[in-house]
Amino acid sequence: MSIVLSGIRPTGNLHLGNYFGALKNFVKMQHENECYFFIADYHSLTTHPTPADLHGNVRQVLIEYLAAGIDPEVATLYIQSDLPETAELYLLLNMNAYKGELERVTTFKDKARKQPDNVNAGLLTYPCLMAADILIHRSEKVPVGKDQEQHLEMTRTFARRFNRLYKVDYFPEPVAYNFGEELTKIPGLDGSGKMGKSEGEGNAIFLAEDPKSIRKKVMRAVTDSGPTEMNQAKPEPIANLFAIMKAVSSPETVEYFDDQYNKCTIRYGDMKKQLAEDIINFTAPFREKVKEISADEDYIRKVVKTGKEKAHASGAKTVREVREIIGFREF
Ligand code: TRP
Repeated sequence: MSIVLSGIRPTGNLHLGNYFGALKNFVKMQHENECYFFIADYHSLTTHPTPADLHGNVRQVLIEYLAAGIDPEVATLYIQSDLPETAELYLLLNMNAYKGELERVTTFKDKARKQPDNVNAGLLTYPCLMAADILIHRSEKVPVGKDQEQHLEMTRTFARRFNRLYKVDYFPEPVAYNFGEELTKIPGLDGSGKMGKSEGEGNAIFLAEDPKSIRKKVMRAVTDSGPTEMNQAKPEPIANLFAIMKAVSSPETVEYFDDQYNKCTIRYGDMKKQLAEDIINFTAPFREKVKEISADEDYIRKVVKTGKEKAHASGAKTVREVREIIGFREF
């Protein structure tokens, strides 16, 4: 039983890639660990300081994670700003983080390039806030993608530095939680690379997407002019369609189209029709749940309140102890 924590960006809707990437594992993992999942609304201000609908975005993400199977009774699911102790730990960590090391972070350099008119201090100290998120529950494992590994490395640096400076053995050095084998990479529909909403319109299928739109996107997926030799290797766009099919369709269906491909008799239109229906079936329970939860304001309020209380119990204790370690004392 480890303490596992993951931060969720309050942007966009969950797509099939998210589901098979991490979410499916989160749902399983919550029963085997002490899990904290939070929606990173403070963080979102580093790139979007004046969001049009921050509350609405957070609410939607919360609903979708619940619909996907995060159990708020089992895991701790909370909103980052509902644990303002995070901000205090962030302030304290900022004192021991150096400008030079922060400026060298790849994500900082990328974002500074992308938003040259808004290179704010929050952007620079993003790794300190992320470290505060992680360390506030003294988390041991953090499931992160490749793009977040450097941030996790910084968290370890900050934890180690804190322990060294104050001569304690207080913070664990959190490691990346690797799902290994269980991670299914879902490619996008545009013929190359993975599924992601930033890859362009039509590339990703959202879990809450309506069937009509799913059919349209799948029918437009990139293919080629078809195999010309028996048993020839599948080029990327075709292999991608098969990969998605493997995730959502029955093994018999996959085998059928694989066979058709190998015999050069495949009709991509038929395959896409089948794939669209299988995606629609696969995502149907999720859509149902989203609808159900969205209509239940009392339930949402209760989930948020429970999450806030559980996060506070753990987070306030850490900040109390950190204050004590540094030397803040009550009069
Ligand atoms: N930086 C993460 C992302 O962009 C989100 C995040 C914020 C996070 N705080 C975290 C992830 C703490 C893991 C742990 O996806």
